[in-house]
Amino acid sequence: GADVEVDISKVEPGQLLRVEWRSKPVWIVRRTPELLAELGKHEDLLKDPASEEPQQPEFAKNQYRSLKEEYLVLVGICTHLGCSPQHLKDGAFEEQVEGVPDGFFCPCHGSKFDMAGRVFSGVPAPLNLVVPPYMYIDDNNILIG
Ligand code: FES
Repeated sequence: GADVEVDISKVEPGQLLRVEWRSKPVWIVRRTPELLAELGKHEDLLKDPASEEPQQPEFAKNQYRSLKEEYLVLVGICTHLGCSPQHLKDGAFEEQVEGVPDGFFCPCHGSKFDMAGRVFSGVPAPLNLVVPPYMYIDDNNILIG
């Protein structure tokens, strides 16, 4: 079928795993407590911090945007014109947004997203990165689709 099962147990803390789902890149990021703590510190810089735009699962309408806080699952496609954003980590994102060490940067027209895929204000992307439908099969495996 078109659904994809992924073993998330081998993703190291802070790492991003790329898989393909329906010809789209999907990212699975294992967020550390530090990455989760960052999310509450820059909400005034975001377009839609509580993720109230409707085109996503109900469980994504909060600052974590995931079923389990530790694992972020996103479609890795910029909501502007479809380029693939880069994962900038461990302080590398500070060049894009001062005071925010980690995030995603789209090289095409400069859109910026945090570690929940929430878009920053003042960039061309209109919406947060898309959270695909997924579920946990057990503690180590998710099913995307
Ligand atoms: Fe990402 Fe335009 S496609 S900023």
